[in-house]
Amino acid sequence: MPARLTADGGRITLRQLEASGRVPRGRKPRVGSVAAMEIREVAVVGLGTMGAGIAEVLARAGVGVVAIEVDADALGHGLGILEGSLAKAVSRGKLTEAQQGEIWGRIRPAASFSDAARVDMAIEVVPERMEIKRQILAELDRVCSPEAILATNTSSLSVTAIAAASKHPSRVIGMHFFNPAPVMRLVEVVSTVLTDSALPGQVADLARRLGKTPVQVSDRAGFLANALLLPYLNHAVRLLETGYASREDIDAAATVGIGLPMGPLALLDLIGLDTSLSILEILRAEFGGPRYTPAPLLRRLTDAGRTGRKAGRGLYDYAGGAEADDVKDGNEAAPSSPSTVTLIGSGRAAEAELASAIAAAGINVTRNPAHPSDLIVIVAGPDEQVLPAAIATGRAQQAVGFHPAGTDLIEVISTGQTGPPAAGAGAALAERLGKQAVHTPDRPGFLVGALLYPHLADAVLMVQDGYASVADVDTAMTLGCGYPQGPFQLLDKAGAAAVLDGLRGMHAGYGDPAFAPPPLLAEHAAAGMGFTG
Ligand code: 3HC
Repeated sequence: MPARLTADGGRITLRQLEASGRVPRGRKPRVGSVAAMEIREVAVVGLGTMGAGIAEVLARAGVGVVAIEVDADALGHGLGILEGSLAKAVSRGKLTEAQQGEIWGRIRPAASFSDAARVDMAIEVVPERMEIKRQILAELDRVCSPEAILATNTSSLSVTAIAAASKHPSRVIGMHFFNPAPVMRLVEVVSTVLTDSALPGQVADLARRLGKTPVQVSDRAGFLANALLLPYLNHAVRLLETGYASREDIDAAATVGIGLPMGPLALLDLIGLDTSLSILEILRAEFGGPRYTPAPLLRRLTDAGRTGRKAGRGLYDYAGGAEADDVKDGNEAAPSSPSTVTLIGSGRAAEAELASAIAAAGINVTRNPAHPSDLIVIVAGPDEQVLPAAIATGRAQQAVGFHPAGTDLIEVISTGQTGPPAAGAGAALAERLGKQAVHTPDRPGFLVGALLYPHLADAVLMVQDGYASVADVDTAMTLGCGYPQGPFQLLDKAGAAAVLDGLRGMHAGYGDPAFAPPPLLAEHAAAGMGFTG
């Protein structure tokens, strides 16, 4: 352990340090120089959901924790979260009672900053308000050894502005965990222009010691993961509020269609709508543009106190533990599957597969639009419009588009002419084929592409900007947000040319600069080159 410089009544000055003989006269103490393996005790300031999760991660890894909450109720609540999480791990056989006792023994609850006098590092996890963060930094400056590392778990505020509030800004760094902290394996290590050059490596080593994977980035709004995640979530809210698709269908498009662990609307409820709104505000202030402009519904729900799981209600209702159906999507009556289907397509592989699946389900298939049938199914690619083919049948009211997305989802496309019974019959047919159905309008990208293509474009833009590497983006999104594959792996799977076409369709259809394809994507598509290989 390095020599510890104790605080004198919580106040320590350079002159006192020099007088103590531990710091040579005329030289500043080297701050942030504690090697990662020497970090034995960490103060976690703020014991909300994230703070409690971070305290648990540290204590489980053998690090002593001073859990500081100045408000007694908040301290009790935070310790309750910690206790509940450890008890759950014991009940699931993931921890023995002895291990639980050892972990618990490493946590020292504290109601005062002076308890942080001897820690090697402090992490603040207080609400995202600059003035509060600055106050905390001032308190930590006052009580901690000048050698101690000061980290902020801010998700969106400028680490540089927070660091500037410290007397020793070179020892201040961002250490951004993801929710739920005990589960998500990513830690973003955020350095500023003021950060001591050795510090990011030391904090990254600590993250590894905690079983996490660090990604080192510089201080920019949203850092890596939130700058990609939040515009995607925001776009999902916009699709909901404009009636483009239902809440359930938007989430199913992401989970079943793309393979993500949670739908964007359920994820917003996990993160908190208020938190998401404030991150978007900061992204908009830094980068501008429609992609970061918060959807009005996000703001209204936040204003109404419907901030997500923590409030018991957000985009979903969690009263009674289950997600209640408080938003109806108008597609709940289950129409029966058709007995004769007219199948129309342009010879894609998906068409032949659908034809045999429909026939195997005991449903008659005809290719002749003049032949009477209960439903016309037009097999569409993501870059195609269904309406012209529907009109050409002469029975547009009875026609829906089908776009298989992934192996388990069919997008059931309604044109402006499709009658509600046909839309219902289309969904019933998809379900009869063992697929999940989502309803989508006949617009560029349908539903899955409308969510995915701009998200992938954001990832390409980030690499094009030189902010992060392809590998870091994929690591961040797989380990921070549980993606089974990172954005660039997803992009390569779809093909750069297909994603480019999808974006061009959206850009031409809406005229929204948010959907303009990045030049780097066009270059990869033109060269037939993947990003990950
Ligand atoms: N706390 C502790 N552990 C939790 C937990 C929580 N809140 N939620 C789930 N877990 C644990 C479970 O106990 C279980 O552990 P076990 O395997 O040891 O038994 C494990 O996680 C899996 O949980 P479940 O089986 O209940 O549920 P899922 O398999 O559906 O996984 C999930 C849940 C891990 C939350 C998964 O849905 C997921 O990865 N979702 C994406 C979350 C995400 O994107 N997070 C990032 C948000 S952005 C952010 O945090 C940044 C901030 O700045 C805004």
